[in-house]
Amino acid sequence: MIGFFDSGFGGLTVLKSVVQELPEYNYLYLGDNARVPYGGRSQETVYEYTIQAANFLFKKGCLLVIIACNTVSSGALRRIQQEFLPGAYPDRKVLGVIRPSAEGLVDRRCQKVGILATEGVVKSKIYTEELEKLDPSAKIFYQACPLLVPIIEAGKQDEEHSDVVVSEYLASLFAQEGEIDMILLSCTHYPILYEAFRKHTPPHVKILTQGPIIADKLRDYLARHPETEERLSREGTRAFFSTDSPEKFNRLASVFYGKRIQSMPATLDFPD
Ligand code: DGL
Repeated sequence: MIGFFDSGFGGLTVLKSVVQELPEYNYLYLGDNARVPYGGRSQETVYEYTIQAANFLFKKGCLLVIIACNTVSSGALRRIQQEFLPGAYPDRKVLGVIRPSAEGLVDRRCQKVGILATEGVVKSKIYTEELEKLDPSAKIFYQACPLLVPIIEAGKQDEEHSDVVVSEYLASLFAQEGEIDMILLSCTHYPILYEAFRKHTPPHVKILTQGPIIADKLRDYLARHPETEERLSREGTRAFFSTDSPEKFNRLASVFYGKRIQSMPATLDFPD
């Protein structure tokens, strides 16, 4: 089984693309909706929450976990891979969304990239670090958008207010650099506001969402790692868990996933 983890609903935008591209595998999604947003939390807190989430997904039988959250990928992934997995689950894998997204930008020949993300991601400057390794000539400009995840988690993305907030964040981004040629929506929640981003961005500027990029890169990863791929179950099952009420999750999740979802409650603990 392949596990997906996000602080809330956002990772469903990635899972949706992955399921379209690789429908044969079994998937299990976990949203920590009770503790979202993670974007303003310390790296230590994000690391602790992520250990609990990984433990939940591994106990449910996931061999591979995709952290479908930029905030967790920037703040906790390395420590999870280097400190947690070797002792607790040496035969399991955890992958994030930053490195494959940086590769996706370089594949599309980005030069001046706008990164719209949570405060945690912006502070980490992780996209600069990753992009420097792949294409040192590319330049990154960051804009933190701390109001967006709370708006989206509350299901208020269609209210006029959210359009105003998006236009203000974009204005601040373009005030830093007028010649940005590509924008990456570097938070898995933001694709839900794609139309608003498009409306306030000059037409020649490409706006990328992460779902299709991650789906593509996961396909490559599985082809390069047959030792993992051969162990994955393939009945095409999907299961959804949320740390908040399943009713709320079921009501709002279909906007992100594109289909109705029946979720189950999840309680997160540290490993025994
Ligand atoms: N979907 C998460 C991300 O990609 C949102 C983080 C949050 O909870 O603030 O960063």
